[in-house]
Amino acid sequence: MAVSQRSAISIKLVANLLLIGLINLSVTECRRHVSYESDVTYSAINCRKHTAFLTDFGGKGDGETSNTAVFQAAVQNLSQFANDGGAQLVVPPGKWLTGSFNLTSHFTLYIQSGAVILASQDESDYPLVDSLPSYGRGRDGPGGRFSSLIGGSHLTDVVITGGNGTIDGQGSLWWEKFHSKKLSNTRPYLIELMYSTQIQISNLTLIDSPSWFVHPVYSSDVILQDLTIRAPVDSPNTDGIDPDSCKNVKIQDVFIVSGDDCVAVKSGWDEYGIKFGMPTEQMIIRRLTCISPDSAVIALGSEMSGGIKNVRAEDITAINSESGIRIKTAPGRGAYVTDIFVDGMNLHTMKYVFWTTGSYGQHPDQGYDPKALPNVDRINYRNVVADNVTMAGNMGGIEGDPFNGFCISNVTIGLSEKPKKLQWNCTDISGVSSNVTPKPCDLLTDKGSVECEYPSDLVPIDTVQLKTCSLSSTSQIL
Ligand SMILES: *[C@@H]1O[C@H](CO)[C@@H](O)[C@H](O)[C@H]1NC(C)=O
Ligand SMILES: *[C@@H]1O[C@H](CO)[C@@H](O)[C@H](O)[C@H]1NC(C)=O
Ligand SMILES: *[C@@H]1O[C@H](CO)[C@@H](O)[C@H](O)[C@H]1NC(C)=O
Ligand SMILES: *[C@@H]1O[C@H](CO)[C@@H](O)[C@H](O)[C@H]1NC(C)=O
Ligand SMILES: *[C@@H]1O[C@H](CO)[C@@H](O)[C@H](O)[C@H]1NC(C)=O
Ligand SMILES: *[C@@H]1O[C@H](CO)[C@@H](O)[C@H](O)[C@H]1NC(C)=O
Ligand SMILES: *[C@@H]1O[C@H](CO)[C@@H](O)[C@H](O)[C@H]1NC(C)=O
Repeated sequence: MAVSQRSAISIKLVANLLLIGLINLSVTECRRHVSYESDVTYSAINCRKHTAFLTDFGGKGDGETSNTAVFQAAVQNLSQFANDGGAQLVVPPGKWLTGSFNLTSHFTLYIQSGAVILASQDESDYPLVDSLPSYGRGRDGPGGRFSSLIGGSHLTDVVITGGNGTIDGQGSLWWEKFHSKKLSNTRPYLIELMYSTQIQISNLTLIDSPSWFVHPVYSSDVILQDLTIRAPVDSPNTDGIDPDSCKNVKIQDVFIVSGDDCVAVKSGWDEYGIKFGMPTEQMIIRRLTCISPDSAVIALGSEMSGGIKNVRAEDITAINSESGIRIKTAPGRGAYVTDIFVDGMNLHTMKYVFWTTGSYGQHPDQGYDPKALPNVDRINYRNVVADNVTMAGNMGGIEGDPFNGFCISNVTIGLSEKPKKLQWNCTDISGVSSNVTPKPCDLLTDKGSVECEYPSDLVPIDTVQLKTCSLSSTSQIL
């Protein structure tokens, strides 16, 4: 790297680094401890010109020393390369304890095989941040919001990937505090990127988030791929992935075990979400496998007050979940859930295959407008096989505001040993069906032989080609 680039660093940063005592570690000494796998390649939306290791900044992977200031200093230092080919920060094998830190633009966080980012369990490591404008308050309660473990706002081109390295949220303490009502602020999410574009999160194992795992919000062009996400099935609100007021999103080849919905598509809450008015749209979910005995494989809502439209799901597998796709909304939510397309679900051990709820409670405050009714329309499901099912369809709309335009075709549902007597309970809905067993309710008119629609075009994110990047063929910053 050119000397002029080095001198570009601000005096203030150097002073800060001196202050927190990072410089007293010889950098060359650190480098010798790094097991440098020079042949590692990976796929990403963009490769980076500059490479640094967490150890270059004084990181200690002993599982006990806090690396919060190290991560923050590393990202700040590497942000100087945003307009010079970008930088990648490599987290080597080891256990790297840290509190909250933010990412920067044109940046890759690469978590090597054998590396674990270990989330601190100390509340003070998660400074309070503003509530989201489309929610009006924290999701857990009216107090503040702890910042997420890994965050970022107003970023362009940011990648979190690795050789299946791990981010461990160490959520158990948070879950206990949540259950015993000892928290006055909303729990941290594991990863939250806001107002950002060109995001990739891939080839990682994410475990035990304090609450939601991956929360892209007010963002676009998002790729979430090759992820293993795992929390105990009784852990509170550990949703796997929550795309929230986001556009052009791909979720592909993801395995999730969760105490809540595996994927929950959202767009803000009641009057706050209506006012903010930012939908989630143009989304594809492909090859998702979900275990979630008390929640949905894919939920649409319940926060959907900016609208949800043009969401596609294909090749979905569930092993013990409460429901397949679930639409959750209520008077007060407003907006819409429209143009939903599902092709191919293979479901084992389910309470419901189809579930819609028009009376989902939970409002941010008393200021919601009960006359703000959601429009649910054009919901298409085809090619579904399920076994060990308790009830085929539990489908409720809203009185005076029916959910319309359902199309359900080519569905074979095998029942459990003690199935419900009433297999389809339909209220305030309308639509058509074709080749569905057991026989649907009369509100889903049998159309003989039709195939429900599934778009033949691609959402734009599906056409993005990943590049082959390397940890070695770039200039080391030190
Ligand atoms: C941050 O980057 C500059 C180059 O601009 C470098 O001189 C400095 O040593 C870096 N800081 C650390 C802690 O590595
Ligand atoms: C993730 O790893 C798998 C192999 O483990 C590889 O086939 C795939 O290309 C990787 N994906 C990305 C986005 O790097
Ligand atoms: C991360 O970014 C958010 C949003 O800009 C900000 O509120 C927060 O203070 C930042 N956190 C850190 C640790 O810098
Ligand atoms: C990644 O690691 C998890 C366990 O941490 C494992 O279950 C999963 O199969 C691994 N994924 C790949 C692609 O190797
Ligand atoms: C019906 O669905 C099954 C399971 O997805 C699939 O194998 C089959 O090809 C479908 N039949 C038609 C006519 O599309
Ligand atoms: C069927 O579902 C029940 C729960 O409803 C479960 O206990 C049982 O193990 C499942 N059977 C099979 C064969 O998966
Ligand atoms: C059917 O659904 C309606 C409305 O959601 C509910 O009130 C009713 O109890 C359900 N009936 C049965 C038998 O589950």
